[in-house]
Amino acid sequence: MDLLFKTPFTLIAHRGANLLAPENTLPAFALAYDMGAAWVECDAVLTADHVPVILHDRNLLRTAGQQVNIDELNYDDLQKYNVGAYFAKEHAHTTVPRLEDVLELALQYGRGVNVEIKPVLPEYAALTAECVCTVIEPYFSRIPVLVSSFEWDCLLWYKKHSPKVNLGYLMSDWEPDWKEKALELNAISLHCDETILTQKRIECLTDSIFAVLAYTVNKRTRAEELFKAGISGIFSDDPQLLSKGEAND
Ligand code: G3P
Ligand code: MG
Repeated sequence: MDLLFKTPFTLIAHRGANLLAPENTLPAFALAYDMGAAWVECDAVLTADHVPVILHDRNLLRTAGQQVNIDELNYDDLQKYNVGAYFAKEHAHTTVPRLEDVLELALQYGRGVNVEIKPVLPEYAALTAECVCTVIEPYFSRIPVLVSSFEWDCLLWYKKHSPKVNLGYLMSDWEPDWKEKALELNAISLHCDETILTQKRIECLTDSIFAVLAYTVNKRTRAEELFKAGISGIFSDDPQLLSKGEAND
């Protein structure tokens, strides 16, 4: 049985434990696993020399304070940029991890990884999907891996070239044809912006074969409401959102 189906999606640590450590870094992912998260979510992009690395934005301005695009840097050059100082002095030597580093960490913990592929330009969709696939393939039988993307061509690439990969279809706006799209991709999950999830829409989504996941939920009361309505899991910046006593938000 695919390892993924033995690992409930209940809480996926969004960019790691990013309230307590710099987002999308190894300390943030390790902390999320230490705090009990069964899954982490990370954003995968390509460097100029096509190494899949973990970064949310195309540009390093927000996390490293430098006006430079990830696709203009080779992986070796990227090591000169720290993406932890913006968060706290003790993280001043934290660099952008490779996707492979995150998968190795997940392997040590025996936990899951949701790789959200973010091609920096639409025309890089297939290349990014292919480079990510090469890195994740050796891990399929060892840890739960779920690939998702907002980029249709990325997901289509997997359907054509690596159909065994578990796919998640991301939705930031309500798409009336979501079911046709998810079926076309053979997706296993729908990852929806929580702000589009009304009770009626959740009923519609959960009356399907797909796991329904909501991002990004940081309020316990909202999480409880969504679970009550039937969703399978949330992406949260707080890995302990569901395990801390009663809701008080
Ligand atoms: O994958 C769920 C969520 O991470 C999508 O939004 O912008 O945080 O990558 P974003
Ligand atoms: Mg993401």
